[in-house]
Amino acid sequence: MATPHITAEPGDLAPDVLMPGDPRRATRIAETVLSDARLVTEVRGIVGYTGTFEDRPVSVMASGMGMPSMTIYATELFRFFGVERIIRIGTAGGMAPHLELGDVVIASAAHTDSAMTAGRIPGVHYSHAPSFALAAAAAVAAGVGPGTTPPPPEPASGSRRRRRVARSTVHVGAVFSSDAFYADRKATDERLVAHGTLAVEMEAAGLYATADAEGGQALAICTISDLLFREASLPAADRELLFDRAVALGLAALATA
Ligand code: HPA
Repeated sequence: MATPHITAEPGDLAPDVLMPGDPRRATRIAETVLSDARLVTEVRGIVGYTGTFEDRPVSVMASGMGMPSMTIYATELFRFFGVERIIRIGTAGGMAPHLELGDVVIASAAHTDSAMTAGRIPGVHYSHAPSFALAAAAAVAAGVGPGTTPPPPEPASGSRRRRRVARSTVHVGAVFSSDAFYADRKATDERLVAHGTLAVEMEAAGLYATADAEGGQALAICTISDLLFREASLPAADRELLFDRAVALGLAALATA
């Protein structure tokens, strides 16, 4: 079966999909986390794999960058390939002052400057929210929430990178899904922070709206790869390693929600 952007047979995609933005990350997650992963689609280089994680079928497929790309793939997955739950595993720029590189944000809401959903229900300011079940399960897996304390750092295994991942903090809160990566909008960003926004990325709001429209469930879990108000960013190679914690939380949420 072929949709305009996915060529796969019915049943090739699992009901549960992890979605990084970058196709290379999808390949890396398939190779390092899934068992028996096989390539099921690669239209335009947007690769998708299906395998198992702890005996449950799971797919991992790239979304590309931005809401137009994310919503194309999410719509086709939900509508034509029997996908029920999508968890975005992304990067985000830290906005709130208490966020550090390598921290993880479970996006409990997504503000947006995108016009994509503005006209969805005329006269209504649509709320972009994740599946509560997935968000709650991810928060519980991370040890954050009422009555819980964050888990102690994992024992350092020698490498500097590993220690930084182990010490990263998981936050639950709103992100800003923006249409523009390069934008001169300091005042807007400051207002967003004043309203409790944790981080900026480019896909969550589109994913949440698509899940609502298609009767699916969605969540975005983002690793902080740069900080907006401080000079800091992670080299591309480090980003790959920092994904591990977000992937683990996504898989735990899918298994327990
Ligand atoms: N802006 C938008 N998207 C992002 C950023 C950012 O600073 N960092 C990672 N994804």
